[in-house]
Amino acid sequence: MSEYAPVRVAVVGCGSIAENGYQPRCLAYPKKIALHGYFDQDKARAETLRNKAGAGKVYATVEEALADPEVEAVLNLTTINGHYPLSLQALQAGKHVYSEKPVSITSAQADELIREAEARKLKLACSPSSPLGYEQQNVWARIRAGEIGTPHTVIGTFACTRLEAWHPNADVFMTAGVSVVADAAPYPLTVMTTFFGPIARVFGFARNVVPERVLQVGPRKGTAFKPTIPDHVMGLLEFANGMRGFIYTGWSGRSDVPPLEIAGTEGGMALNPHNDGNGIRTWSQSGHEVKPLPTPEKSMKNALDWGKGPVDFADAIRRNRPVRCSPYQARHIVEIAERLNESSRTNASVEVRSRFEPPEPVGEVAPWE
Ligand SMILES: NC(=O)c1ccc[n+]([C@@H]2O[C@H](COP(=O)([O-])OP(=O)(O)OC[C@H]3O[C@@H](n4cnc5c(N)ncnc54)[C@H](O)[C@@H]3O)[C@@H](O)[C@H]2O)c1
Repeated sequence: MSEYAPVRVAVVGCGSIAENGYQPRCLAYPKKIALHGYFDQDKARAETLRNKAGAGKVYATVEEALADPEVEAVLNLTTINGHYPLSLQALQAGKHVYSEKPVSITSAQADELIREAEARKLKLACSPSSPLGYEQQNVWARIRAGEIGTPHTVIGTFACTRLEAWHPNADVFMTAGVSVVADAAPYPLTVMTTFFGPIARVFGFARNVVPERVLQVGPRKGTAFKPTIPDHVMGLLEFANGMRGFIYTGWSGRSDVPPLEIAGTEGGMALNPHNDGNGIRTWSQSGHEVKPLPTPEKSMKNALDWGKGPVDFADAIRRNRPVRCSPYQARHIVEIAERLNESSRTNASVEVRSRFEPPEPVGEVAPWE
């Protein structure tokens, strides 16, 4: 028996990640989340999701979804250009909001969303929820326990095969926002900043390496487009706690550099900051052997559990506690993307001004258990 009634949510934006990530994984936690209805500017997509679930309303307009008194919260799973306006509209309608990343296009917009949520005492949360994975939490606990000595360096990558080769709306991603950092790098950056806190200074290289592209899949296959934001970014990172780091991200080609590696004075660890159950590697700084650590039993098998963020958000609503997928951290990530561009333009290191309190570790009993 759950101690509370599930939080009733409307899904706004019913595309790839709603269909393949959020819907199946939210349906896996019926005691915490109830998918009450669906809205997409393309009504057929909302209908597809409703039919898959076998229940729920399909709204004709976003206004209708937001006026539904039974809806307590909105999952904003639209593409980047819909994040800020729809989240603002939902907050103004008195609904709690969980947004896909990035929380907004600019950090000034993120400030506005945070002010709106605070003023209305509503919860605002933002993906990625990947730090909530069992492997990610396990590594974090080991670092806090001193297993690798004093951590001094963290390296993260998220560089994927050419986006237009597999995403039907790749052009939307590359023509709105700050850069690939805001869309792809939140996975390593959110895990890094969960473990080690905010970043205080960056030095960046941002550019376009594939300036002419053609959509390879979907109904608009064959459409040519030119990215208007950097598709390839590298950055040196200085954390407020003195640690140093590096981030490499792009939509222009795959990288097999370990997605997240942490080095300390006594040892190091590597893991995937996106998927759970993908393996943890560890080594000592006084030996040459790389050893795998046992994957926590409950981990997903090389997958991200898209339901965990919404469940933590629902639990935070019911218990009136801070969300773990923090909007303050999400704003910080948007600012990092902005500052990396600024640094690249000015050829100088740039201060990152926003700060946030890292989320609480999940602890022995997770909200989704
Ligand atoms: N596809 C992935 O693998 C993936 C993974 C992680 C995160 N995400 C994030 O999830 C978000 C959505 O990505 P996606 O891949 O599902 O995109 P998508 O293009 O497949 O789906 C987006 C959906 O939102 C709808 N939409 C857009 N603007 C809208 C608006 N203003 N009102 C109503 N509906 C609107 C579109 O019609 C579409 O159905 C993005 O922010 C992306 O960064 C995607």
